[in-house]
Formats: sequence, C-alpha cells, structure tokens
Amino acid sequence: MHQPVLLQETIDYWLTDPNGVYVDCTLGGGGHLRHLIKFLSTKAQIIAIDRDKEILEASRKKLNLPNITFIHEDFRYLSQILSGLNISKVTGVLLDLGVSSMQLDTASRGFSYHENAGLDMRMNTEQRLNATEIVNHFSEEEIARIIYDYGEERYARNIARSIVKNRQEKAISSTLELVDIIKSSVPARYSREKHPARRTFQALRIAVNSELEAVQEVLPQAVKHLVTGGRLCVITFHSLEDRIVKKFMQEQARECICPPDFPVCTCGHKASLKLFSRKPLLPDENECYQNPRARSAKLRVAEKI
Ligand SMILES: C[S@@+](CC[C@H](N)C(=O)[O-])C[C@H]1O[C@@H](n2cnc3c(N)ncnc32)[C@H](O)[C@@H]1O
Repeated sequence: MHQPVLLQETIDYWLTDPNGVYVDCTLGGGGHLRHLIKFLSTKAQIIAIDRDKEILEASRKKLNLPNITFIHEDFRYLSQILSGLNISKVTGVLLDLGVSSMQLDTASRGFSYHENAGLDMRMNTEQRLNATEIVNHFSEEEIARIIYDYGEERYARNIARSIVKNRQEKAISSTLELVDIIKSSVPARYSREKHPARRTFQALRIAVNSELEAVQEVLPQAVKHLVTGGRLCVITFHSLEDRIVKKFMQEQARECICPPDFPVCTCGHKASLKLFSRKPLLPDENECYQNPRARSAKLRVAEKI
C-alpha cells in the first residue's frame, strides 16, 4: 500500500488558491493529489502527469474527476505539455521524485533486488533502453561510472568488472542474477550493513530513466510557468537529486550568480524565487516509523516572486 510522503507538509505549501491550476508532475498512486483535491473548488484545474502508463491508468480509474487532465509523458516536456493544453500559468507544481511503491512492488518491472524478474527498470515501458541493455552492452568503464556516479557505490569498479566477466559466459538477464554478481564483488561485511545491491540498482534505475537529466530540465520550466506567489514543491529521496534541486533553488533565489571573486556583477541575473528556508523539511520520527521509505525524503519549497 502506497503512503504519500510528507503529505500534510506538501499540501500546506502546494495549495495557495482553491480555484488555481495545479500540476502534479509525478502522479504515481495519486496520494498527494487525492489529498490536495479535498481543498480545491470545482473551478480548479489539475494536470496529472506520469511517464508510467500502467500507473497513470490505474490512478485515472481512482481519480476520474472532470477537472483533471491525465498526461502520459515525461515531465521534462512540461512546457510542451502545458502549451498543448493552452495553459501558460499555473498555481503550483509538485515533483515527488523517484519510483512509486507500485513500481517497486510489481516484481515484473525489475526494480526490486528482492524479487526475481527480468532486468528492466523502465518507468516508461515504451522506451528502448532498459537495465539488461546497460549491463550486457555498455563498456566496463561506462558501467563503473554509472554505478559510481548514480549509486555513490564505493565498490563500483569491482562490480563492473564482475558484470563484464560474467556476461562473457552468459548474458545477465534477471534481477537475482545481478544481485548474486554484486554479492560476489563486495566484501562480506558490506552485505551486513545494508543490502549490497541497493546502490547498484539505484544507479541503473537512474541511468535507464535519465532521472537526473529530467529533473534538471523540468525545474526552470516549472518556475517559468508559475504565477507570482505560486509554489514549486520538490520531494527527493537521495542526495544526487536533492543537490540539483537545492542548487537550482538557491541560484534562482539570488539577485546575482557571478562567481564570488568578480568585483562587479556582470550576470544581470534577477531572483525569481523566494525560499521558505535554506534547509529542507524532513519527515518526523513517527512518519519514518510508519513508512520506512520516508526516511530519506526531503521536501524543498520555493515561491515565485
Ligand atoms: C514517488 S512516485 C509519486 C507518488 C505520488 N506522489 C503519490 O503520492 O502517490 C513517482 C512517480 O513519478 C513518476 N515519474 C518519475 N520520473 C518521471 C518523469 N521524468 N516524468 C513523468 N513521471 C515520472 C514515476 O513513474 C512514479 O509513478
């Protein structure tokens, strides 16, 4: 059962006008949106986006209201999506990043290192690149880079070397085959700390779905389309995503983004956002206890000025 993370805190910031236009860029199971709707009038307009068709359709069945438009698309095309709907300004944008529990819990999607399935990990099953392709066809250097950069895995080189060695004998096609290869490439004590495949699976998922590129691309579009006083709310689950969001919001909240050693400002940059705090909002102990997935969540909010 999916439990929306930082639910009340998110709604408190996301909602500024009961008659507004709201974009949920990561509809998932619709947990956040369902709660927001309770506070909206029938005049409000909602755009619900997800690049996972199965999930979008499941949520459409549960949330079928006349003022919600469901869009099967990558949120990195936010401006195009809005222009296709003849919308230029919106009141609030939510990004609740990463995979949904539904994706993790459906073994056949290949996201979980606990269940045996084809090595897939595509959020959009219509795209070509999947995890099997990366593991069997990318070079050892490229695999090591992905695992190190996107998984911050200290044994990235060992794991990449084992992957390449194993695939010479037989193509690696299932999640548990990959888990065994990872286990054989890291010291036994490492497996006692946390699941040894956790970081590699995160890295492959990020690479398959170009997750960091999508976040980088959507943030300026979201700000461009917000009305003055409108809010951008972003929930992240790992430091790579959080760093991108933090840097973007802090830059957009500054009047000048020249390097600190420049004697005079030459950038001509104008602040477009106001931050509510430099630190992100975190779930309390009770939420982390009820929903272990919330433990790594961070909510950052900014307001268009
Ligand atoms: C953490 S879940 C969202 C959960 C939702 N807020 C809820 O409470 O039910 C993230 C969802 O965003 C979708 N997603 C991730 N990256 C996306 C992207 N670039 N474009 C569109 N959807 C994306 C995933 O398919 C997933 O369903």
